Amino acid sequence: MPDQIDFNAAASLDIAELTPRIGAEIRDVRLSGDLPEHSIVAINAALLRHKVVFFRAQTHLTDEEQERFSLRFGSLIPHPTQKPREGSNAILELDSRGGGGRADTWHTDVTFVDAYPKISILRGVTIPPVGGDTVWSNTAAAYSDLPPALKSLAEQLWAVHSNLYDYATVRPKATEAERQHYEEVFTSTVYETEHPVVHVHPETGEPSLILGNFVRSFVGHSNRESRVLFDLLQAYVLRLENTVRWRWRQGDVVIWDNRATQHYALNDYGEQTRIVRRTTLDGIVPVSIDGLRSTTRSKIVRKPAFAAA
Ligand SMILES: [Fe+2]
Repeated sequence: MPDQIDFNAAASLDIAELTPRIGAEIRDVRLSGDLPEHSIVAINAALLRHKVVFFRAQTHLTDEEQERFSLRFGSLIPHPTQKPREGSNAILELDSRGGGGRADTWHTDVTFVDAYPKISILRGVTIPPVGGDTVWSNTAAAYSDLPPALKSLAEQLWAVHSNLYDYATVRPKATEAERQHYEEVFTSTVYETEHPVVHVHPETGEPSLILGNFVRSFVGHSNRESRVLFDLLQAYVLRLENTVRWRWRQGDVVIWDNRATQHYALNDYGEQTRIVRRTTLDGIVPVSIDGLRSTTRSKIVRKPAFAAA
């Protein structure tokens, strides 16, 4: 069990809760790599409590400063298959005009590897006048909502996560560029990792669900059974009471606890340009309620890393 979290550390911040279960705007902070340590501790405490925190008007941030700020929370980890933005070490640019820019599926970032990122930090660079909102869901609240029999079922299940999923079914409206990016870049190395469906959050000790779009099946269950089990449990993640929706403006920065959330980027803005830039902080291997650790069971290199380079 982790040490007790000092949620009072966040008391120094001007915080406006957006919903009772998830999401808070922090209003009085100018983000930078030079923030005093107590501010970083306060932001982390707010993050652990609210799961996703929002900062408006951080238009002063450059890529370099976003990286410096991100480094205050741990080590940066680049995406396993997608190349960082030109001139940066670890910034992943999500551009709606390119192949991999529209994340309109419910997922937790990079769960196809074992030690997936603990925190993601996303900066709004070009935002459409309307549309392109992102929705996050609290997966600890989703677990907590499960009736006792489903909690007990979920605690016994392990899921196989892979970046090679049924793309055509999940993204039936994908463009040719998107399909090509998925095949050439996103799955240049194919990972298969087994995670417990319920893991214990390493900082808060809260049980949370690990599900989302990268789940391919449940260990020991047929594909058909896996689909039924997935829909049954994922429905608790999708409950609107567990979600918060953010209307982006240019310069916004959003930080989410990737160990206790899923998110979905709405793809409702047509051909308008939407560019956001993400940094991710290295996480640890999840641990089940029984103390068992996730394992990557295969990693197959299909094409040289960053084949598009
Ligand atoms: Fe994502």
